Amino acid sequence: EKGGFEHFMLKEIYEQPEAILDTFRGRLKADEAIIKMAGVEDNMKRFLNADRIIVVACGTSWHAGLVSEYIFEDLARIPVEVEYASEFRYRNPVITDKDIVIAISQSGETADTLAAIKLAKSKGAFVFGVCNVVGSSIARETHTGAYTHAGPEIGVASTKAFTTQITVLTLMALRLARAKGTITSSEFRHHLIELELIPDKVREVLESNEYIKEIAASYKDSKNFLYLGRGYNFPVALEGALKLKEISYIHAEGYPAAEMKHGPIALIDEFMPVVVIATNKGHYDKIVSNIQEIKSRNGKIIAVVTKGDVDVRNIADHVIEVPETMEALTPMLTTIPLQLLSYHIAVMLGKNVDQPRNLAKAVTVE
Ligand code: F6R
Repeated sequence: EKGGFEHFMLKEIYEQPEAILDTFRGRLKADEAIIKMAGVEDNMKRFLNADRIIVVACGTSWHAGLVSEYIFEDLARIPVEVEYASEFRYRNPVITDKDIVIAISQSGETADTLAAIKLAKSKGAFVFGVCNVVGSSIARETHTGAYTHAGPEIGVASTKAFTTQITVLTLMALRLARAKGTITSSEFRHHLIELELIPDKVREVLESNEYIKEIAASYKDSKNFLYLGRGYNFPVALEGALKLKEISYIHAEGYPAAEMKHGPIALIDEFMPVVVIATNKGHYDKIVSNIQEIKSRNGKIIAVVTKGDVDVRNIADHVIEVPETMEALTPMLTTIPLQLLSYHIAVMLGKNVDQPRNLAKAVTVE
């Protein structure tokens, strides 16, 4: 059942190229330059008239929501707010019938997300679901939606659900951007072509597995980790830290790289590994100087960089390369090494990676 893998988590990490492809299937046609998504198509007027999008989710799904904030705003110029479902539902949030709520959930059973949907519906909002489990409570409670086609995710730590959620949200943002005219047809086409290359690029990233395992061996006894990223990769830093915490029980924090100087930099010494996502687009120079700041305080740097990178390689202790892609698509690649790093550390520490203590696959309690 684990298909020759030692754990479901590793199997699911390796399933990502196929899972992303399955999520494209029938929706992305790069050669014809079209994206087809019935849930978006049928409600296009609502999407075009929406004042804003409010994303509600928990945990890893919330991180996918944060990535989508960058994509929707950047490509489709729609203001986005990303809310923890548990906070949203217990406030008195301002919601109107001009708002579109996107609820993201792998299981489709998360109690807080379900309650947030009910609240949004009661205020007249249109609710779009991004779920993995077909026929789940959230899929049924939303007005419409688009499934991720990740297949069953058994490992408690969410991996392929995350990258396929980003896939769906990226397709939505591109479709809306095209309808709104916020990107040109050639930009649109370029995105689709690049998107279609992602599964193969994920496969290429997976080839770093042995090297990542060596890095894991060097840092498995660390008591704390810091994860840094900027822009599209800031949510990836949060996700990397969550993955490490939940399966290895090592304390980890994710931060936007530039926030480091406002506090966390005080933590840095030779015992603090810092995982930095430093791909070559979007504020590359800024992140290089963040890395220099860490280095000058003796922090250990594990960097995720674009293939062929020179500047970061000169400073970092370890570099993991990912293939070049458009900035908006980097999270689907940069997430992979962080999943593998957590996985190997947890295995080396003898933890139960598929069923970490205190956690359940679907949190159906509030
Ligand atoms: C992280 C993890 C949790 C879930 C969260 C939301 O690896 O598994 O943080 O992401 O409980 O679950 P869903 O997506 O099922 O609503």
